Amino acid sequence: MLDIRNLSKVYPNGTHALDAFSLSVRQGEVVAVIGGSGCGKSTLLRLLSGLETPSQGEIRLDSNTLKEPDPLVNIVFQEPRLFPWLTVADNIAFGLRSLDGDQRRMRVEQVLKKIGLPGYETRWIKQLSGGQAQRVALARALVTEPSVLLLDEPFSALDAMTRADLQDHLVDLWSEAGSTMLLVTHDIEEAIIMADRVVVMRPFPGRILEEVKVDLPRKRDRTSPAFAALRKHLSELLALSLSDLKHSVTA
Ligand SMILES: Nc1ncnc2c1ncn2[C@@H]1O[C@H](COP(=O)(O)OP(=O)(O)O)[C@@H](O)[C@H]1O
Ligand SMILES: [Mg+2]
Repeated sequence: MLDIRNLSKVYPNGTHALDAFSLSVRQGEVVAVIGGSGCGKSTLLRLLSGLETPSQGEIRLDSNTLKEPDPLVNIVFQEPRLFPWLTVADNIAFGLRSLDGDQRRMRVEQVLKKIGLPGYETRWIKQLSGGQAQRVALARALVTEPSVLLLDEPFSALDAMTRADLQDHLVDLWSEAGSTMLLVTHDIEEAIIMADRVVVMRPFPGRILEEVKVDLPRKRDRTSPAFAALRKHLSELLALSLSDLKHSVTA
């Protein structure tokens, strides 16, 4: 269980990015977080990954309080953030330094197969397409079998075909691995395809506007009436979240 309690973040310049955010996520649950830009979505994930320290509140993973980057929590960003001077295999194996060479090679080979890039071990990063590079970033995050995977708009830089393919792939991988996922996205369909629950945020300060359960069987059918109804409901909530943003700009 990932338990986020009353989490707040005020940056040194006084920006109140997140205010009293509370959320409990079951092991193996997928929660999507949507909301206009500036709602504190990235701040939330950076706090959860230990890249920022909270001003208030607590993050608990099972019975432990998370205070610094934890190997059980991995994060994937919008851009792959790979090391260009390392091969695909060495990028992925980066988090496996404690294993011996053979074990490392085996784990890298397995995860590359799972992510749809078998045999790509010796490629250089610059030889990959954007979609392939993002697959490698996902492989690097998955190879350590984290208990929590944080995803900050992981597919938003990709074309629509690649995006849909990777969404399906990640759902498959997730159902095998049973890890908890927190997915930040501005794509309502992506949230409905992947999540058990969608948290809609609003800005100034960043906080929860509403939580919506996605009670649809997987694999989800983008063309079903239930999908369309949920998309409409979430669009309306998102419009509310965005209108907060407009008021603050015109104020
Ligand atoms: N390092 C920082 N220092 C000061 N303000 C920041 C910093 N990072 C983000 N912010 C501000 O905090 C608010 C939330 O930002 P962010 O978490 O990036 O939102 P989102 O990911 O939802 O767009 C915004 O007003 C943003 O300008
Ligand atoms: Mg962001």
